Amino acid sequence: MKDIIKELHDRRDDARLGGGQRRIDSQHAKGKLTARERIELLLDEDSFEEFDMFKTHRCTDFGMEASKPYGDGVITGWGTINGRMVYVFSQDFTVFGGSLSETHAEKICKIMDMAVQNGAPVIGLNDSGGARIQEGVASLAGYAEVFQRNIMASGVVPQISVIMGPCAGGAVYSPAMTDFIFMVKDTSYMFVTGPDVVKTVTNEVVTAEELGGASTHTKKSSVADGAFENDVEALSEVRRLVDFLPLNNREKAPVRPFFDEPGRIEASLDTIIPDNANTPYDMKEVIHKIADEGDFYEIQEDHAKNIITGFIRLEGQTVGVVANQPMVLAGCLDIDSSKKAARFVRFCDAFEIPVLTLVDVPGFLPGTSQEYGGVIKHGAKLLFAYGEATVPKVTVITRKAYGGAYDVMASKHLRGDFNYAWPTAEIAVMGAKGATEIIHRADLGDAEKIAAHTQNYEDRFANPFVAAERGFIDEVIQPRSTRKRVARAFASLRNKKLENPWKKHDNIPL
Ligand code: HXC
Repeated sequence: MKDIIKELHDRRDDARLGGGQRRIDSQHAKGKLTARERIELLLDEDSFEEFDMFKTHRCTDFGMEASKPYGDGVITGWGTINGRMVYVFSQDFTVFGGSLSETHAEKICKIMDMAVQNGAPVIGLNDSGGARIQEGVASLAGYAEVFQRNIMASGVVPQISVIMGPCAGGAVYSPAMTDFIFMVKDTSYMFVTGPDVVKTVTNEVVTAEELGGASTHTKKSSVADGAFENDVEALSEVRRLVDFLPLNNREKAPVRPFFDEPGRIEASLDTIIPDNANTPYDMKEVIHKIADEGDFYEIQEDHAKNIITGFIRLEGQTVGVVANQPMVLAGCLDIDSSKKAARFVRFCDAFEIPVLTLVDVPGFLPGTSQEYGGVIKHGAKLLFAYGEATVPKVTVITRKAYGGAYDVMASKHLRGDFNYAWPTAEIAVMGAKGATEIIHRADLGDAEKIAAHTQNYEDRFANPFVAAERGFIDEVIQPRSTRKRVARAFASLRNKKLENPWKKHDNIPL
């Protein structure tokens, strides 16, 4: 018996060594943690339960039978984050560069199946050279098995990917289908074809970092939702995110203890809107002042900054926030901001997270680049996402709500539950100057007349009361009491039940 137990311990020690000390040292020298160290940091202490520690590959080509490290380049299992269950896989770059073999894929599929069956998120820590070259199509088949599971799990359990090393070729498509992708600065990259292929095909000379580093994907491409300085920071931020999310689509997000008075009055909000309607102010300040303890977890902070998306808590309950940012492009909607916010609203709706929308939007960004880029279809994504969402929706118009953008931003007409406006709200088809130039075109040469018409239009429409008279705005509220009003609104909606008509699935403009 003793011998068998010793053998178990020896085998475990062997498995824990992955590709060996030399490769572990090389991983550390690159500023990266090992797959096991990452799991330890991600999960609560001693909570990790491993599956398939002794699984090995079955490949016999290219001399592979001579090297069969335990675990086959990926560590899989489950554990807890602040006491709540998650499934995790962590690719081990020290074993064949973390490359994905048939058996490596089987291990990932096993925990994904369990996650869906048992209703817990899947977190993938990606650090891999891609398809196991020695295995050929068996490896490709393995990827496709993972992809299919990503698709089936979408909207059922949250899926989070952290890119902590290479992620190239078709391998990128598994993270791409998860809900959130985070990257580690300087040590991770993602691309469909690498710099060498790019040079051969298009003659472009580009580094791996420029082509697919964290900065590229958080700022330009929007493939990634956040970038962190190092492995430790990335993993602790994933823990923070998981705290906001429900475990699956049948459960509510966790309610955390809160130490912030729900009725807290914020007098400073009464003066945050500048006298000049064209002067910007920071919408993030409004979000922080509404949130429990000022805590805001921002998603896609560096992309399409004219719209802000992320999570706060109100009375301890998770709320998704979408807010126009007047500091960037005057807060207008455009292709990027519409896509960013639409995806966020759909995530919230899929996982029963209520949505708070803060509106200060002068309309859609005009221009050929927007029209040629398909702003019609992309803008429709946000409209569609809000309109189909059945979660509680509370909207506060702080200043401008012009034109189609008024309709899009969770208006009453898109089944907004509570639509509030500050007294500074201006709800109209367009700004007074533009409106005057169209409806009083004959007077364009007469500056005095135009000024009078503009003033007249402003007096009539640059306020929330016309909309309030029609019931499109439920109440004009004092800015200082926004947190209290919004918290009460969401509290009253906790038992909201709204179902869309049966359909196989909708046809959102993609
Ligand atoms: C098998 C691999 C491997 C792979 C790396 N290794 N990638 N083994 N299959 N795909 C092994 C190396 O042989 C090496 O083994 C160890 O991992 C570390 O690799 P290095 O090259 O020494 O590391 P580094 O210099 O950091 O470079 C990392 C790398 C490079 C950039 C990822 O290894 C690389 O370019 N690999 C090939 C990438 C690739 O073309 N993959 C296929 C992509 S197509 P030793 O024994 O020396 O430690 C694809 C299709 C998916 O993925 C399709 C899904 C639909």
